[in-house]
Amino acid sequence: MLDGSFRLIPMQEGDLDEVLALEQRSFNEPWSRKMFLGELHGNTFATNLVLRTGGAGFGEGVGAGALLGYIMFWVVFEELHLMNLAVLPEVRRRGLGTALVRHALMAAHGARMALLEVRASNTAALAMYRKLEFVQKSVRKGYYNHPREDAVIMMRELLEKGGHTMLSEDPAILDLVRKESPEFKALEESHQRLEHQLAELTQLHFLTPEEEQRKKRIQFDKLATKDKMAAIVRQFKQQRSLAAGPPS
Ligand SMILES: CC(C)(COP(=O)(O)OP(=O)(O)OC[C@H]1O[C@@H](n2cnc3c(N)ncnc32)[C@H](O)[C@@H]1OP(=O)(O)O)[C@@H](O)C(=O)NCCC(=O)NCCS
Repeated sequence: MLDGSFRLIPMQEGDLDEVLALEQRSFNEPWSRKMFLGELHGNTFATNLVLRTGGAGFGEGVGAGALLGYIMFWVVFEELHLMNLAVLPEVRRRGLGTALVRHALMAAHGARMALLEVRASNTAALAMYRKLEFVQKSVRKGYYNHPREDAVIMMRELLEKGGHTMLSEDPAILDLVRKESPEFKALEESHQRLEHQLAELTQLHFLTPEEEQRKKRIQFDKLATKDKMAAIVRQFKQQRSLAAGPPS
């Protein structure tokens, strides 16, 4: 779909005037410039892309090089989070939104699951995500403002189950690792702190967009911490099995 007549390229600060104009046409609670800048410069997990027409334009007054849309997503270990997506109103229902989401799904190498939040009244986006095989995971009551409205959390599995990335380990082994690895202990404490911070944020009924960003970061830090802990456990078990020698 996104062939040579399009350019899908990293979003730069220089794109922001156009991006903000489209953001304001697309959402009741548009992101601010500061929020876009936070994604562009302060977030190593983020991929931010703009879709522009190639040399031939798109027809219907959309000239060469014009902004057609953008997509912003985070990939952290097992999860792809769709953070922001918009298509120029003049060129909607031409498959561009679908192509942008498909691109993100393909770009998320190794991710196990894709997640997103959408206003309950956003029938266009809901229909598009359902076509893309997302399913409703839960509803957050009264989550959005202007107008107050529920958020539908949607998800799509990306990989077969059966990988071994989560920390579901024998408690006896975890005890041994704790004793032997101060790094593991420190990570575990930091994981608990993050969990605590997350619980505090989750108690707030309405999160501002900034709080929502902070919450996502904490979730990702938690995931990163958990991943490091799992790596230490794996290493510990490998060393143990090497030390034990091959079975006789
Ligand atoms: C949601 C959005 C990105 C969709 O982009 P798009 O390029 O129009 O989407 P597509 O052309 O790929 O549509 C794919 C399918 O989604 C469904 N769909 C899209 N727009 C729809 C609408 N207005 N009403 C009903 N279904 C719609 C249709 O099933 C469509 O397939 P079809 O055209 O063959 O019937 C676009 O409407 C948009 O920018 N909206 C404002 C911002 C927004 O809501 N972003 C998502 C936030 S979670």
